[in-house]
Amino acid sequence: MDTIKRTKIAELLQSTAYGSQVLVKGWVRTRRGSKMVSFIALNDGSTIKNVQIVVDNEKFSTDLIKDITTGACIAVCGTLVQSQGAGQSVEIQADEIEILGLCPGDYPMQKKGQTFEYMRQYAHLRPRTNTFGAVFRIRHHMAIAIHRYFHEHGFYYFHTPIITASDCEGAGEMFQVTTQNLYELKKNEEGKIDYSGDFFGKSTSLTVSGQLEGELGATALGAIYTFGPTFRAENSNTPRHLAEFWMIEPEVAFIDLPELMDLEEDFIKYCVRWALENCREDLEFLNKMIDNTLIERLESVLADSFVRLPYTKGIEILEEAVKNGRKFEFPVEWGMDLASEHERYLVEEHFKKPVIMTDYPKGIKAFYMKLNEDGKTVQGTDVLFPQIGEIIGGSIREADYDKLMNQIEERDIPMKDMWWYLDTRKYGSCPHGGFGLGFERLILFVTGMQNIRDVIPFPRTPKTAEF
Ligand code: 4AD
Ligand code: MG
Repeated sequence: MDTIKRTKIAELLQSTAYGSQVLVKGWVRTRRGSKMVSFIALNDGSTIKNVQIVVDNEKFSTDLIKDITTGACIAVCGTLVQSQGAGQSVEIQADEIEILGLCPGDYPMQKKGQTFEYMRQYAHLRPRTNTFGAVFRIRHHMAIAIHRYFHEHGFYYFHTPIITASDCEGAGEMFQVTTQNLYELKKNEEGKIDYSGDFFGKSTSLTVSGQLEGELGATALGAIYTFGPTFRAENSNTPRHLAEFWMIEPEVAFIDLPELMDLEEDFIKYCVRWALENCREDLEFLNKMIDNTLIERLESVLADSFVRLPYTKGIEILEEAVKNGRKFEFPVEWGMDLASEHERYLVEEHFKKPVIMTDYPKGIKAFYMKLNEDGKTVQGTDVLFPQIGEIIGGSIREADYDKLMNQIEERDIPMKDMWWYLDTRKYGSCPHGGFGLGFERLILFVTGMQNIRDVIPFPRTPKTAEF
């Protein structure tokens, strides 16, 4: 059997070499048939599509046929023939079948139509289902699109640390990193933990964002991006939050707010276009099985310009809606952080397209954002998407040393681990800005999946770190 080279099913389904001998390997999706003939649907992960294997039962032992159950792994050598059946161009007439791995009847992915909650318990096996296969292939394509976009636009991929001593977002939602014996924590005179004997000699955590180090890259290389894991110990059990997620953070020197918004819009559209052009079969599957407005929604994002909306104007629209009888759980007032219901109202009901909101009250945004001349608002930008809410958060950075120090002092941010960041403002400071795109939120949008736990292979959320 192994004298011929294995063909991947994606490639095989394109082939017209009828009559040639082929070898395929994969996992059995289904086997059906009669006494005389069996039909096996085989999938190897290279495409959402299965190849049909036609088996003349007389040529094989009944024991072997019996072992070809859903989930079993097999190798098939046979003749490629034009298919008579609808929905497939070619099939294989089996000459030899080898069982590589049996699959007993308690295989958890056996039944169709299980809930996503059920499948999350089997995150180690769910990639073998059609839906998760499609999602993870699209996830791969999105990563490729992102690297291509930045490479084509002159950004350098800059690696920022995962272990850090600073809290970029200042929200105190960090996972600590330590090698100390937790049973015998050393405390100082004030009763606080003494980190001097710890691995790094100071308190360290997993990063919540690569931005601060990304700024160091941008103010030297001109334009950089990061693409790595980030960690947030926020106890948010929502369909849009993970404790471990991947973030893409471009950072650009000499950029202003309108240019930053152009970059955000152009970048997202590039990724969506990439999916439409390179993931067609998987998208069509998801459109059919998960959300039949998916492809239409992706296309509509490309067709229109995103709305650009100052926060203050957004609040006015929400107040107007309340006046006209629209009910929100959380009251609308200037200065508040928009809740998901407010963002969705603006995007899904009022404008019916993506919105880039800008110029937020400084009190609800991070210390590093550039203060506007009004002294009340900052040059932050959030990109709000239908179904998802916030998909991007970014800003123009405060480049002025004294103004930045004011913000740091107002917020009581510990200075001892920030000296290096301040040096960018001390030595050749320059206007710059950037943003962070939540990779899984992009995947949610592009796949039409409803829960962020279902677009990352092994989700990390409060009380779950299995696999
Ligand atoms: O808005 P955030 O907190 O912004 C930053 O971290 C900035 N330092 C980015 C920058 O300017 N370089 O996070 C950015 C994006 C959000 O818009 C969201 O898409 C995603 O990261 N995100 C999460 N995704 C999944 N789970 C979570 N817990 C997330 N928190 C943020
Ligand atoms: Mg944000």
